[in-house]
Amino acid sequence: MVVVLMGPPGAGKGTQAARLAERLGLAHVASGDLLREAIAAGTSLGRQAQVYVERGELVPDDVVVGMILERLGQPDCQAGVILDGFPRTLAQAEVLDKALASRSGQVNAALELDVPAGVILERLTRRRICRDCQAPYHLEHNPPARSDICDRCGGELYQREDDTEETVGHRLQVYAERTAPLLAYYRQRGILRRVDGAGEVDEVAERLARALGTGAA
Ligand code: AP5
Repeated sequence: MVVVLMGPPGAGKGTQAARLAERLGLAHVASGDLLREAIAAGTSLGRQAQVYVERGELVPDDVVVGMILERLGQPDCQAGVILDGFPRTLAQAEVLDKALASRSGQVNAALELDVPAGVILERLTRRRICRDCQAPYHLEHNPPARSDICDRCGGELYQREDDTEETVGHRLQVYAERTAPLLAYYRQRGILRRVDGAGEVDEVAERLARALGTGAA
């Protein structure tokens, strides 16, 4: 099973993809997490991606596609994946379809988390991320037990460089121009479901589970 989780920055993709993956026994593959890991490790891919990520621009398709296809080839992805933040352009979606078709697979569902821009800004400017496992927290809605330590792995929490008000505004614009048109691609195939992403994390998780036909979360 391959599920694409879409939505603007801060819609809750990372939060919900981790839950869905655990619930369905699928791998959670997040392009943004993979890029940030590569940047932190100082790999050649990370050095190519860094300037784009910090400015809130999309990393070039060839860089991202190679990274994702390599990740999809790993053993934990064979039972299926929740894709979080990928694809983000039509070209990425087409490469993904070809790669899946070569293994007799396909994208089974695309879920769009719909959240108003005002809510997004509040979520992102108050988000903290674990440096080690990348778990997202929110200072008010989903606070860690200790203010700067990850509950899950004990890693240090930090604020992403692209979570400033100015860069969030730019990321929303990039989403509208480059990624939102992809919704029509999945709608035409009859596999797009729009889900209200506002409200409590548990409520949104339940809506997503229903949209996938997997019952209450
Ligand atoms: P990426 O890391 O994918 O960032 P994004 O899409 O901008 O999404 P975010 O991670 O900001 O938000 P999210 O939707 O995951 O929300 P979260 O669950 O954390 O990409 C970063 C960059 O990498 C891009 O700008 C680009 O440069 C590059 N990149 C990545 N993929 C690429 C690709 N395919 N092609 C090219 N370039 C690519 O939640 C946000 C906050 O809200 C958290 O604090 C959370 O705790 C809180 N929250 C979540 N749900 C709720 C709720 N229901 N109620 C209250 N608070 C909530």
